[in-house]
Amino acid sequence: PRTIYLARHGESTHNEMGRIGGDANLSENGRLFGSVLAKYIKDQNIPKLRVWTSWLKRTIQTAEGIEAPQERWKALNEIDAGICEEMTYAEIKRHFPEDFAARDQNKFSYRYPRGESYEDLVARLEPVIMELERQGNVLLIAHQAVLRCLLAYFLDKPSDELPYIEVPLHTVIKLTPVAYGCKEEYVPLHV
Ligand code: G3H
Repeated sequence: PRTIYLARHGESTHNEMGRIGGDANLSENGRLFGSVLAKYIKDQNIPKLRVWTSWLKRTIQTAEGIEAPQERWKALNEIDAGICEEMTYAEIKRHFPEDFAARDQNKFSYRYPRGESYEDLVARLEPVIMELERQGNVLLIAHQAVLRCLLAYFLDKPSDELPYIEVPLHTVIKLTPVAYGCKEEYVPLHV
């Protein structure tokens, strides 16, 4: 049976400062994760592995050292936070207190002004999921909100829980199909 490997990009300089969105480079720590991930993947000897990333630098940099054919998907880019892009949550709360509260009320449906909601993201990811269903072994390196949507799909989680699914940094999540649904395994990589 094939396995889907999911991972967030390594820590970025925006992650270090608590900023969301943007297109930042990896931090020192994030680059280290990239090399630990490449070694882990190499040691697993996964037949016919393909690597998918988003178009953002932090996923491409994370995948840099992995010896396998790679594809870039714009549809895997992080949720677009619109007017809140590159802010910290404290800044969002200060500048847009009503949006901050509205998001807390219904995080799945809340759409950032000039940006996206989780609901929008689920729709954007539909072609990715269709293609993923047809593939063999894939390592997909993406972003927290995107991986929440993919995990909810494969693990059959309801939409109200989706925006709160834990997707830790520097961890590989292995999804393997079983009779009904998927088995999940979290592999933390020590950086
Ligand atoms: O900004 C992107 C984050 O990965 C998503 O976090 O939806 O919990 O604010 P959040």
